[in-house]
Amino acid sequence: MSKIEKIVLSYSGGLDTSIILKWLQETYGCEVVTFTADLGQGEELEPARAKAEMSGVKDIRIVDLREEFVRDFVFPMLRANALYEGQYLLGSSIARPLIAKHLVGIAREVGADAVAHGATGKGNDQLRFELAVNALDPSIKVIAPWRQWNIRSRMQLLEYAEKHHIPVPSDKRGEAPFSIDANLLHTSTEGKILENPAEVAPDHVYQRTVDPVDAPDAPEIITIGFERGDPVSVNGKAMTPAALLTELNGLGGRHGVGRLDLVENRFIGMKSRGIYETPGGTILLAAHRGIESITLDRAAAHLKDEIMPRYAELIYNGFWFAPERDMLQALIDHSQAFVSGEVTLRLYKGSASVISRASPCSLYSADLVTFEESAIAFDHHDAEGFIRLKRLRSWAARNGR
Ligand code: ARG
Repeated sequence: MSKIEKIVLSYSGGLDTSIILKWLQETYGCEVVTFTADLGQGEELEPARAKAEMSGVKDIRIVDLREEFVRDFVFPMLRANALYEGQYLLGSSIARPLIAKHLVGIAREVGADAVAHGATGKGNDQLRFELAVNALDPSIKVIAPWRQWNIRSRMQLLEYAEKHHIPVPSDKRGEAPFSIDANLLHTSTEGKILENPAEVAPDHVYQRTVDPVDAPDAPEIITIGFERGDPVSVNGKAMTPAALLTELNGLGGRHGVGRLDLVENRFIGMKSRGIYETPGGTILLAAHRGIESITLDRAAAHLKDEIMPRYAELIYNGFWFAPERDMLQALIDHSQAFVSGEVTLRLYKGSASVISRASPCSLYSADLVTFEESAIAFDHHDAEGFIRLKRLRSWAARNGR
């Protein structure tokens, strides 16, 4: 093992990263700086400080990244209407490059030569952390204890904690808990009973959305304002990115919007089953598509839709800081110049449906499309010629259907 001088650890204060902290101190015998990010996971972060202090950490960083997360990561991704495998809004995938960026920033500031994370060897998150760290500063080493130590089971993990006087909360003493990852965009739950995709997810898995069956019987109408592709207001009230997403999470959660039970293909190779709750993000996706529907040119919109799966896959696989993601982002951002206006949606028992849209930059022409008499010159004979030209290929005679 090469000599490591100082490590910055991505630290939640939970049992796993507390054990990792101790293991790093023991294994490398060097200073460990802890970094705890507030991404809107809805957990108290001060306990993390107390725990780090108890473990002898001198440099403890707790940083509120909520605005940066939504403004510089979530919103740019939403401009693309990004969905992985047609359904997943990438709530965990998009948070990792931000955490990696700050790990690298702190490492440079404190003169650390390594960063460490608590992602396991079977998941996507290790790739996202490490590809991002490498893209930002290839001289920084990455330590992934889950791949290095010889703890192989939950039992061994608890034994290690016991041996090193790391308090194990009573609810963590039994079998392994669900693996949960939460931030302002989503809550993701994996593991335990969910590992059998044939098994229906129990109700208590859901944390931030009500069951649509129990949602209010009265629909709720909301209006979202967009400027150049980004949401800027809810019901006429201007909000910062994080405040806006927080507001929509509340509204969506109450109406059971944004639940997803998905079997996905991990970059590492295996299939995995997870439960996702993305209330605000689900509303924003519908609303953004709504405003794009009147403000984007057809060919521009279709081109965006063609590159979207590729763009989403880059984010899922951990290539946020790769040149091809920058290139696609430039294309997507360019397309948003006129994506401004207002979209009204109805939230009702699990659904978020666009019911109206309006924009000063609208390309929609009622005069052109109307079934009624119209002022705009549209010669119906032109359509006849259009169809005649489309028939030139006339393959029909051959296939005999
Ligand atoms: N499968 C999701 C992804 O790869 C979530 C991963 C983290 N979630 C968790 N519950 N550990 O983006």
